[in-house]
Amino acid sequence: MFIVKKEIKGKDYYYLRQSIREDGKVKAKTICYLGKIKKEAEEKAKEYKSKTENKNMTETKIESKEITIDELANFCKRKGFIYPSADIYGGLAGFWDYGPIGSELKNNIKAQWWKHHVHGREDIVGIDGAIITNPKVWEASGHVENFTDIAVVCKKCKNKFKVDESELKGAVCDKCGGQVESKGKFVPMFTTQVGPIKEDSTLAYLRPETAQLIFTNFKLVQDNARLKLPFGIAQIGKAFRNEIAPRNFIFRVRELEQMEIEYFIDPDKKDECPYEIEDIEIKVLSANMQEKNEEPVIMKIKTALKNKIIQLPWHAYWLSSSLNWFKSLGANMENFRIRQHTKDEKSHYSTDTWDLEYKFPFGWKELQGIADRGTYDLSAHQEKSGKSMEIMDDASGKKVLPMVVAEPSFGVERAFLVFMNEAYAEKEKDNVVLRLNPKLAPIKAAIFPLVKKDKKLVQIAKDIYKNLREEWNILYDESGSVGRRYARNDEIGTPFCITVDGDSEKKKDVTIRNRDNGEQKRIKIENLKDTLKKLISGEISFNNL
Ligand code: GAP
Repeated sequence: MFIVKKEIKGKDYYYLRQSIREDGKVKAKTICYLGKIKKEAEEKAKEYKSKTENKNMTETKIESKEITIDELANFCKRKGFIYPSADIYGGLAGFWDYGPIGSELKNNIKAQWWKHHVHGREDIVGIDGAIITNPKVWEASGHVENFTDIAVVCKKCKNKFKVDESELKGAVCDKCGGQVESKGKFVPMFTTQVGPIKEDSTLAYLRPETAQLIFTNFKLVQDNARLKLPFGIAQIGKAFRNEIAPRNFIFRVRELEQMEIEYFIDPDKKDECPYEIEDIEIKVLSANMQEKNEEPVIMKIKTALKNKIIQLPWHAYWLSSSLNWFKSLGANMENFRIRQHTKDEKSHYSTDTWDLEYKFPFGWKELQGIADRGTYDLSAHQEKSGKSMEIMDDASGKKVLPMVVAEPSFGVERAFLVFMNEAYAEKEKDNVVLRLNPKLAPIKAAIFPLVKKDKKLVQIAKDIYKNLREEWNILYDESGSVGRRYARNDEIGTPFCITVDGDSEKKKDVTIRNRDNGEQKRIKIENLKDTLKKLISGEISFNNL
């Protein structure tokens, strides 16, 4: 496209023309009149070009793309999601820092989980316990004695990894199949000292799970929040594990963040779950099926419970509730399965555990554990502290020591990987589109003036930006072509781009573009905030605008 000047009766007139090929010949065609002043004509031409580019963007096809974990790690670093911790010094294995976009996504995941599992229900309250606490906690919980791994090193390739005691005999290197040498028992809790002088100081641990703070505060929380059985206590917070072999990007890290619920019931009412089990169909792999080397079977969780594949209604309930949380945020259930722990794998405190597993780029792996911890922890703390952990149960009129029938527990990092993996898609020219659910999206909307030099457009765009920023994380972007601005936002998952153009001042409206298909609609500026609210919450879809 190019600008031409025509002189008619001593006056200048500017037009936008374009060369097109017709019947094998190149012809120049006038597209539109640009006015009489050169500067204005140049601005109008720019606006027209951007609009055309805009239109062309709506026709591209977006498709999910399978990527390796290394590709995902590179993408995360490039786009400001996650960096190796202290990258300028070469990082430190198992530790990661979250950048401007990643920290927003991580916060949104935690906020959605809290909203769903704490604010969204009457029977669960939250706490925020200390990372370092009295070391007696970890003696009582059995972590000092039982939370151990056997460290092994491959004699051939020197690969270091961990095995369970039961797996040590006959263990081979998981990389090259070589013989391994045991380096002995290893407690993966980080230690520190509390107090400045070593002799007077207390040896303490960085907590390896958030759960124990829920148990130690159990009585106070139950009393303060006037909780009646059955009820749950939730917590989100950092935990630390000195993993022998951190790997697969943020899948196995040394500093992690857990989202955990301890759900307490009267042990005499193990079979009475008053809640509806979600109607979810999923691949099921029981311990029995694993022993017989059978493949997972797709079935409804309700059916698995009816057929006694899942024994406890509470486990069926929590498995379906956790899956439903992922589903409500756009995850594809085909990439999930539930697997029961075999006899040898169960933790020291658990009588039955089901894992929710996800098909990560490196295979099916644990995403979340749902363990029946029984009365293990409350009994242990009762004994060690000498303080009763029993509570009065109004329903039965007796004192009970509640049991933890289910402990839905998972790492924020693994949820982060799931949502990134599910969202990652590409459109023509290898441009990435991150189709994150708007509730999770780090930036909810980006605002652009179509032409940066047009002061009126810039002012309208900045006013909209200021107004929307009161509610959400919003981006204002005026640099580069509109096409580039769309592409930049698609890559970081911004669901809506709002463009202020030449018509906006007169018509008091803007265009809003949908990330997932490039579709655009015009919308009145006065309705923008309300519409955006409904689009982000999922109350309306873009098609309904
Ligand atoms: N309170 C129970 C508990 O901590 P766990 O199976 O050891 O049980 C629960 O851990 C969840 O925490 C796992 O399912 C996983 O999502 C996450 N997790 C555990 N260790 C992790 C690590 N090193 N890196 C990332 N996430 C981890």
